Amino acid sequence: MKVALSEHHGDRTVPQQQGAGVNFRRAAVLAPAVVLLAAIPLWLLFASSPVQPQDYPPARLMEDKDSGPEDTRAGAAPVVREKKCDVFRGKWVYRPDAPTYYTNETCHAISDQQNCMKFGRPDMEFLKWRWEPDGCELPRFDAAEFAEMARGKSIAFVGDSLGRNHMQSLLCLLSSVDQPEDISLRYTTDYNFKRWYFPKHNLTLATFWAPFLVRTTDAQGGQTLDRVLTLHLDEPHPSWSAEIGDFDHIIVSVGQWFFRPLIYYRNGQLLGCSECGRDNVTKVSRFQAYRAALRTTLTAITGRKNREGGNTFLRTFSPAHFEHGDWTDGGSCMRTRPFGSDEKKLEGYDLEFYLAQVEEFLEAERRAREEGTKIRLLDTTRAMLLRPDGHPNRQCNWPKSNVGRADCVHWCLPGPIDTWNELLLYVMKSDRRVKFTQRKLQNVRS
Ligand SMILES: *[C@@H]1O[C@H](CO)[C@@H](O)[C@H](O)[C@H]1NC(C)=O
Ligand SMILES: *[C@@H]1O[C@H](CO)[C@@H](O)[C@H](O)[C@H]1NC(C)=O
Ligand SMILES: *[C@@H]1O[C@H](CO)[C@@H](O)[C@H](O)[C@H]1NC(C)=O
Repeated sequence: MKVALSEHHGDRTVPQQQGAGVNFRRAAVLAPAVVLLAAIPLWLLFASSPVQPQDYPPARLMEDKDSGPEDTRAGAAPVVREKKCDVFRGKWVYRPDAPTYYTNETCHAISDQQNCMKFGRPDMEFLKWRWEPDGCELPRFDAAEFAEMARGKSIAFVGDSLGRNHMQSLLCLLSSVDQPEDISLRYTTDYNFKRWYFPKHNLTLATFWAPFLVRTTDAQGGQTLDRVLTLHLDEPHPSWSAEIGDFDHIIVSVGQWFFRPLIYYRNGQLLGCSECGRDNVTKVSRFQAYRAALRTTLTAITGRKNREGGNTFLRTFSPAHFEHGDWTDGGSCMRTRPFGSDEKKLEGYDLEFYLAQVEEFLEAERRAREEGTKIRLLDTTRAMLLRPDGHPNRQCNWPKSNVGRADCVHWCLPGPIDTWNELLLYVMKSDRRVKFTQRKLQNVRS
């Protein structure tokens, strides 16, 4: 598929990495989110693509709350098919009376970057919208239920700072039933690798910083803004791959960092580069490289020996909402209410990343089924595309280098990102219902 997009983008996260054997800082370079899509009719994007975002995830993965689970395996007893619900499709509905889950006073784990309350976001209206799937209901996050389900388990978030953002939301949501202890220092002093322990539930949450997922080396020393990085597309980054076997649930997500100049290697051989400024190196699409990195990662994770009840989740791309400019030239996100579901289309880079993820997910799911492991899609893209009002914008405390810039990439806490955990709980529960019924069927037969 040929799309004349601007290839210029940077990274948006605040970088510093120390992973097994790797120790390097990343310049706090941030992202011009320039999307030059105006000239491309949307139907063209879709027409040339084998998948339609509307169709995903496949309905059979999304068991409705009240529906009987369906076992499609050969030999399974017939189970009545009931209405299925795709919780990832819906709209934001104004619910001014819905209580917020936590505040900057009740959750102590909110980092200044996402602490919109503390830094004086003038309106709190953005907290009053709930995600309502079409034709069914997404239950509110039940912290006690989640903690009980996850008792004795460990959950790893592998990816970039949006993964950390997600983890912090879960941390805050669960704080109402169990006060987490920061146990990171037992493992590392690196801010990008955090671990929290919930003592009453013997539950651990961890973040693994790997914005490219695969092993990364410096192609060119120094910390210039457009420093070129080398990605080894067939090697999982040791910062996470060495330890991931100890975790029950793994939530993978990346994207934003793939906008910078990159050089790619596979099998130790130079494959090509994106925007690396070297004429003698083959040009490779960053989306193609992104897919390769995703495939390497998902293969490594779903191929590991699954723990009983363990699961892998691929969380889809989280769109940014810069307007009137981009990250570097004064862009911001001033809106104070969500888009209606027809007001905003998934397009440009967001669409490219999303499609890459969905297709790699389907491929990973096929492989996982063969190996008897599991992977699920947390398809949060649609919901978040509609929330230009949920970012810190200028109400956050950036590290010095970024002062004055707006953050339209990460999400306020509390905020719409809490919905990711409502969805996570929903998917975990529907998996469990399927399993429960499978066991019941077996008992009936034996
Ligand atoms: C929470 O936000 C309020 C403003 O809404 C601020 O006055 C207070 O200092 C913040 N507290 C913490 C602990 O961040
Ligand atoms: C906590 O959970 C781990 C598994 O994650 C288990 O090995 C350990 O025995 C549990 N500890 C307690 C005190 O229950
Ligand atoms: C490309 O050119 C640079 C010099 O500009 C050289 O150092 C490098 O080895 C060349 N790479 C290839 C693959 O030919």
